[in-house]
Amino acid sequence: MQKVVCPGSFDPVTNGHIDVFKRAADISSEVVVAVLVNNQKAGLFSVEERVELIKESVKKLPSVSVLTFDGLLVDFCNDNGVTAIVKGLRAVSDFDYELQMAQMNYQLGPIETLFVSTNPLYSFLSSSLIREVSRHGGDISNLVPEPVAKALAKKYNK
Ligand code: PNS
Repeated sequence: MQKVVCPGSFDPVTNGHIDVFKRAADISSEVVVAVLVNNQKAGLFSVEERVELIKESVKKLPSVSVLTFDGLLVDFCNDNGVTAIVKGLRAVSDFDYELQMAQMNYQLGPIETLFVSTNPLYSFLSSSLIREVSRHGGDISNLVPEPVAKALAKKYNK
């Protein structure tokens, strides 16, 4: 497969996301991680911070690059020569929403969505849980890349 995209909010990127990027890299020649710019939803990290944290976390993956996008994912795919969307499925609870998005994106594109089954080590993991646990001082150091753990500690003055 040629170029694929891993889209998301990544506020912040977790080890679960990194696992999906690696697996996408194994089945394609190029992976673009596309960070959604969503002005209506203020996140913990700015989009610029999220991009920087992902870049620092994928340094050892030469075929992975990081961009931002605004608007429809299918337009980003068309503009960037992307062949397919790759997403992780953590559990059955992800399936309904992911299937709906995949079908809409195929209808709009058409563009295929491929799902990789999340490593069970990370199936309970989400960015929102990482923010919550970290805010209350919990140890998330084995669940996120090192630059993210450091950035979270700084955000929460830990
Ligand atoms: O990490 P998230 O928040 O689950 O990622 C969701 C994302 C960014 C993949 C999705 O919201 C998206 O693709 N947004 C762009 C707008 C769009 O194309 N909407 C129609 C999707 S069917």
